[in-house]
Amino acid sequence: MNLFKQTVAGTLLALAAIGCAPKSDLDRKVDDLLAQMTLREKIGQMHQVSGGADLFEAAAKGEIGSILNCVDPEAINAVQRAAVEQSRLHIPILVSRDVIHGFRTIFPIPLGLAATFDPALVEQGARVAAIEATASGVRWTFSPMLDIARDPRWGRVAEGSGEDPYLDALMGVAMVKGYQGDDFTDPSSMAACLKHFVGYGAAEGGRDYNSTMISERSLRNTYLPAFQACVDAGALSLMTSFNEIDGIPSTGNSFLLRDILRGEWDFDGMVVTDWNSSGEMVAHGYAKDLKHATELAVNAGVDMDMMSFGFATFIEELVKEGKIAEKSIDEAVRNILRLKFRLGLFENPYVDAQHARAKVYAPEHLAAAKQSAVESAILLQNRNNVLPLDKTRTILVTGPMADAPYDQLGTWAFDGEPEHTVTPLQALREEYNVIYEPGLKYSRDTDTRSFAKVRAAAACAEAVVVCVGEEAILSGEAHSLSKLHLQGAQSELIAEVRKSGKPVIVVVIAGRPLTIERDLANCDALLYSFHPGTMGGAAIADLIKGKAAPSGKTPMTFLRDAGQAPFYYNHNNTGRPCNGTETLLEDIPLHAGQTSLGCTSYYLDTGYGPLFPFGYGLSYTTFEYGNIKLNRSSFGLDDTIVVEFDLTNTGSRDGVEVAQLYTRDLVGSVVRPVKELKRFERVALTPGETKHLRFELPVAELAFWNRDMQFVVEPGAFQLWVAGDSASGTAHPFSVE
Ligand code: GLC
Repeated sequence: MNLFKQTVAGTLLALAAIGCAPKSDLDRKVDDLLAQMTLREKIGQMHQVSGGADLFEAAAKGEIGSILNCVDPEAINAVQRAAVEQSRLHIPILVSRDVIHGFRTIFPIPLGLAATFDPALVEQGARVAAIEATASGVRWTFSPMLDIARDPRWGRVAEGSGEDPYLDALMGVAMVKGYQGDDFTDPSSMAACLKHFVGYGAAEGGRDYNSTMISERSLRNTYLPAFQACVDAGALSLMTSFNEIDGIPSTGNSFLLRDILRGEWDFDGMVVTDWNSSGEMVAHGYAKDLKHATELAVNAGVDMDMMSFGFATFIEELVKEGKIAEKSIDEAVRNILRLKFRLGLFENPYVDAQHARAKVYAPEHLAAAKQSAVESAILLQNRNNVLPLDKTRTILVTGPMADAPYDQLGTWAFDGEPEHTVTPLQALREEYNVIYEPGLKYSRDTDTRSFAKVRAAAACAEAVVVCVGEEAILSGEAHSLSKLHLQGAQSELIAEVRKSGKPVIVVVIAGRPLTIERDLANCDALLYSFHPGTMGGAAIADLIKGKAAPSGKTPMTFLRDAGQAPFYYNHNNTGRPCNGTETLLEDIPLHAGQTSLGCTSYYLDTGYGPLFPFGYGLSYTTFEYGNIKLNRSSFGLDDTIVVEFDLTNTGSRDGVEVAQLYTRDLVGSVVRPVKELKRFERVALTPGETKHLRFELPVAELAFWNRDMQFVVEPGAFQLWVAGDSASGTAHPFSVE
């Protein structure tokens, strides 16, 4: 940088330090408007409502900053006209909606999108969602959900990207970029909202809304990284979470909202509560009443109130009583106005209602949704390579999820239209001579009286495809389960068709990893498809037929039993790690001595290991990793680790492998996880083909929050693995000096 530029940069920094840096045009517009606003008008901006009898009247008075859950473009324009044309300062309303995995064209649920390990595809899907949703007038979505999830009993694992911070961050950034695009004033740009800030997925017992006990160090090493990555990627807003962390509800937690979010990350976006999460601080026992909750939320750093009505009702009083400084109100309203200016709402507040559906279900949208469903499917078993069924003519299709157009869309698919869903039955009929006997009407159905018909039909088929799983309502918010096996008589249905002696292919369509060990024993192949959305059936049929090859990898660990939860690959080692010599229940001798079984960390009945580890998934071919080499064996703090390796398709079919790089810090000032995902790459290979690949990993990315709460790389011994899942590969040692 030349001397002149250095001088200017230095001057600007000095001016900024004393708070008088020249304002940007954006900040000037915000401040000019803020200066004209009365306290009531400021409070109006901080109030978000979902419908309501007096909506138009309140909008005309400038008493509403945002609405949610209206997707009718005409109605949106009508409310917007009331705000823009009748209110004193003509401030437009911000229209929001939960566009979580598509708007009309529904993509796989986010857990399925994470299974693709394909951020570029996920970004494309988010862009499609933004195009369709903004065409209806929605300019703000409450997505991506970044909650790290280690417990499949929690129904909301469906909405996030699973258990790994690195995968979570890449998926979150992809969605932020897809939703927002490059030009926020473009009418198709939809503001992202990072949620739920923070630690919501650590709910004790996997029971939704339950307490969490997360240390600051765990917050910083596990739960915050994806949020920080998305803030750095330019996310325009963030939502506080329902849960309390060690007794402090996130909606009233100034350490999170001011110290970390604003102070450390310099976030200048807008913070909204979750639905009535401000009011819920009364139920938490953190606020005396709604007025006190309002005081706590605003002083903690919340800008907008979703549906507690506390802000609209009490802020004026609280300011007069001196319990909230008007400066805090000004800060909140600046954040809200800045978002509205950034989206170009003042210049372009209305939606072209005539063309709202012009782009919906566009061929390229459906193609992206189908590709996402193909790549999200995980092949967990394929005995004797029974799949793909490319030479079979007649199949029996059975199971309650074979033709379930509504449930296939999964949770948080409000605006999906089941009549557009392509179900597995519909798509398989295009490929095979299909006999269809559902056997069960819905996933919880226990009526086995039609099993005889299924049995008879199986006798006439060459193979059987059993589609089982979860109705959409069994997944998502407030839908926790204490048991994770297939509901109803689904497992019995699989066992029934097993008796036919025909090849049995099970397709699980669900919102979480279920405990399916029993079902694996009763089938030849099992394909796992996290509620795959509108085009899910077409994707499943292509995979079964062999027109596409499965490449999905588990974004969460699959358990053998719900009792193992929480279970995750990047765990600490403990002082007595399981060592494979454990004695299981059925092998324990009578009158065994107290310590005769050894003393390691496992379950007498279930053992230790999961059913499938994180990052696991089969293909229709096989892959071999070889010639793994590091550029050095010892590295300085400023160095970059280069890992080169060969990946070969050793099978007879085309395939895509997700090559993964894991590291381990063997000794730290605090104990460190046994593995951490640091890189991954999807690699397409034809039969016999070998590609020479490399991962580059700056040593700086081995940093963690250590005993002294410093974010540092601690010198010492490390290991790394290059493999197709978190449990495979061999350890390659290296050191950091
Ligand atoms: C819900 C969810 C949140 C959602 C909000 C608005 O309760 O917790 O994820 O965005 O309310 O629907």
